[in-house]
Amino acid sequence: MTQAQEQSVFTGDTPFVPIEKIVSLCKRRGFVYPNSEIYGGVSGIYDFGPLGVELRTNIRRFWWWSMVQTNDNVVGIEGAIITHPRVWEASGHVENFVDRLVDCKNCKRRLRYDHLPEENVRQNKCPVCGGELTEPRKFNLMMETYIGVLEGERMKTYLRGEASQNIYLDYDNVLKTSRVQIPFGICQIGKAFRNEVTPGNFLFRQREFEQWDLQFFVHPSEMQQWFGYWKERRFAWYKSIINHKDRLRFRAHEPDELAHYAKQAFDIEYQSILGWQEWEGIHWRQDWDLSRHSQFSGQDLSYIDPETKERYIPWIVETSGGVDRTFLNLLIDAYEEEPPAGKDKEGRTVLHLNPMLAPVKVAVLPLQKNKEELVTTAKELHYKLRRLMVSQYDDVANIGRRYRRQDEIGTPFCVTIDFTTLEDQTVTIRDRDSMSQIRLHLNEVPAYLLERVMWDYSV
Ligand code: GAP
Repeated sequence: MTQAQEQSVFTGDTPFVPIEKIVSLCKRRGFVYPNSEIYGGVSGIYDFGPLGVELRTNIRRFWWWSMVQTNDNVVGIEGAIITHPRVWEASGHVENFVDRLVDCKNCKRRLRYDHLPEENVRQNKCPVCGGELTEPRKFNLMMETYIGVLEGERMKTYLRGEASQNIYLDYDNVLKTSRVQIPFGICQIGKAFRNEVTPGNFLFRQREFEQWDLQFFVHPSEMQQWFGYWKERRFAWYKSIINHKDRLRFRAHEPDELAHYAKQAFDIEYQSILGWQEWEGIHWRQDWDLSRHSQFSGQDLSYIDPETKERYIPWIVETSGGVDRTFLNLLIDAYEEEPPAGKDKEGRTVLHLNPMLAPVKVAVLPLQKNKEELVTTAKELHYKLRRLMVSQYDDVANIGRRYRRQDEIGTPFCVTIDFTTLEDQTVTIRDRDSMSQIRLHLNEVPAYLLERVMWDYSV
């Protein structure tokens, strides 16, 4: 990691942020809205507002840049959400993609069996009211849909339960149409759908969400080496974008919690008020997927080494995370309520987001809106900057209020055009985290900001 990535704005222990504060900020400032809110909403489904969509776009682009565009042996695809239904039989999802649930006979709560504390499993008691629990029952998580309109000719299929299946379906096409050879990877970002029976904790467990996957195809003899390589790379990637570096860890899956396709797995976990929770899964998928799709489709998906002529089914290292959990964890990680200090009588709420991911990079602020020259100079700078990055022009309210507004949405820099600007063409640039200000010539501003908001990742 670079030195900048190692630095954190937080020192010492800071308390965990209650999720309600994040939910409230997201609604208030236009990051996230409940889906279909005017109809009462749909549990586990959300929409993203003007700032949310900018943050999501930056998260996606950073992942894509660091995983696809800076690795010569990785390429990208974008597959469809709907596939042939046989895909989900071959993948094992129709049979195995289930949650075991229990109902409390007293308070009627429905709970995931694998989330129950050991004590409650042993005593068969509800963790909330102590009531008796029913026997666990299996629920399939796949969301059904139908292709076609005519009764009798409609084909039942599924909205994809994991985005990664498209990569196996397109593996052979990529191999034939790109200049890749094993070892190589295919990446994709896309929506996935799960009929989660207990969605919750805001964006953490949703029914519609967005996953990113790397599927890395290797010779079986090199599996261990590549599994270790991607495991460390992905950990370093997450560490590079958070402030609380000590809130990240690996957790190995116990044999009884492994997904049906995985021979071993590690979760990269982030610690918040929700406890230690999965952020991304690193899975040893071995030859499960390509073997199953070969078997179910009748197409031979084995690989022939161009030099040794050895024929084999490649083994797969999967790194699978999500835009939504990254979005949520970044907000949790960045949120701070600073108490009043010194001349500051009000204190402030600030999002210490990594500048390259912040939805707005710079706000251009004329000191007063009734001075035409200040406004004209500010707008000219704003028009210049918005060709390079997301810039906001704001002349409403006093300058202190405008700084606070930008702090709350995580804008790393505010440029203020004041009366000195009209004399010597210099402006102030205020840093969100330290609140310190420097003066620069107007012409130097674009390069100064670009240097600080451009992609930054090295391991
Ligand atoms: N292809 C492997 C796979 O789907 P997973 O652990 O079930 O593995 C991978 O999911 C990632 O997708 C998770 O680490 C998480 O970031 C995200 N994810 C999974 N279920 C989710 C849900 N219901 N809501 C939001 N994100 C979810």
